[in-house]
Amino acid sequence: MSGIPSVGIHDIAFATAHYVLDLDDLARHRGVDPAKYHVGLGQDAMSVPAADEDIVTMAAAAAAPILRRHGTDNLRTVLLATETAVDQSKAAALYLHPLLDLPSTTRLVELKQACYSGTAALQFAAGLIARDPAERVLIITSDIARYDLDSPGEPTQGAAAVAMLVTADPAILQLDSASGLYCEDVMDFWRPNHRSTAIVDGELSVRTYLTATGRAWADYRMRGGRTLEEFAAFCYHLPFTTMARKAHRNLLGTLGAEWEPERIERLLRDSTRYNRLIGNSYTASLYLGLLSLLDHAPDLTDRAVALFSYGSGCVSECFSGIVRPGYRQHLRTAENRDRIAARTAMTYGRYRALHAGHDARYGIDHVLDPDTGSPYRLTEITGDKRIYQKA
Ligand code: COA
Repeated sequence: MSGIPSVGIHDIAFATAHYVLDLDDLARHRGVDPAKYHVGLGQDAMSVPAADEDIVTMAAAAAAPILRRHGTDNLRTVLLATETAVDQSKAAALYLHPLLDLPSTTRLVELKQACYSGTAALQFAAGLIARDPAERVLIITSDIARYDLDSPGEPTQGAAAVAMLVTADPAILQLDSASGLYCEDVMDFWRPNHRSTAIVDGELSVRTYLTATGRAWADYRMRGGRTLEEFAAFCYHLPFTTMARKAHRNLLGTLGAEWEPERIERLLRDSTRYNRLIGNSYTASLYLGLLSLLDHAPDLTDRAVALFSYGSGCVSECFSGIVRPGYRQHLRTAENRDRIAARTAMTYGRYRALHAGHDARYGIDHVLDPDTGSPYRLTEITGDKRIYQKA
């Protein structure tokens, strides 16, 4: 492989929301067979934010352990990828400046393209580091997937943030230089400015995802990317975890490759474990899948991993990387599992009330009682200004 061999992910950490709703509860109240969610969608539970959590508090919680470990020396860029913007003008990344004690010599920007923009951030970071290998870039993907109550998308909701420190000579994943792209103007999923929930043509979004990831793979191969056989694992954008199986079977079908179901399962399973429990986290979901893979798979040292990013609307990118020797020493596997297990179980009634309360407060001054256990809170919105606090 040619290009820039030594740029990639040096550290990776995540945060999720305070509450969790078991999808058995949702199925019971909706009169749906729970197997539709567990088997059909491949989802067991979903993270639900407390009223005083949002993408900024989750982003801060995800990035804090990385900054504690590595400090802020040579950190000059923070890219926050989200499609759950809290403002039409100000970048959500700016709220992180005081929360994370970032240097005043930092370029703070928000990026948007549905679930894809975290991957754009990764490529932009690689470019900045190619220009000056001493620089380090913090990327945070943070999203809350909200659909209308009782809609088909409801069981695929979720919330998470994944933070990644991108550097030269990375400790965890070294990016290959080849990447493949596909874009198309399509209305499969969007959220107009006046809405807090997405509008989705579910069937079209699944179909477009399959086409786009297949085309991105073809471009990746044309540009010198690895062959299918070289990969120890495949990470897909995960709106729900069976989507990875669909996408991989589709890819194999277009290539005329016949793989045993057990082989497909082995190459996908570990990257879907966290997402099954957390739900969709839009920009974060691919990278939560990568983190899940690193935390669960047998030793991946020097093995290649393929990543498929997809953002409705749509942009898709296929890229890859090599897992670095010693990567396990840099993971926080026990802490990550504890964080998921530590979420507070909520009743269906509480979930419905929180969902409805979000829209009822829209555009109205309000103070939020402490609800989340996160060290970062949204405490009030007054005069349309969001006020955050760290413990
Ligand atoms: N036991 C096991 N599986 C069951 C089942 C049962 N009792 N009942 C249904 N299923 C299966 C279906 O066969 C289907 O599987 P398939 O896709 O392999 O055919 C799956 O569960 C989903 O059922 P379906 O009826 O297609 O779901 P839906 O119409 O309620 O909605 C989505 C599915 C994905 C369209 C919907 O969740 C959505 O709109 N999500 C948001 C958008 C999104 O995530 N898009 C993805 C690309 S970004």
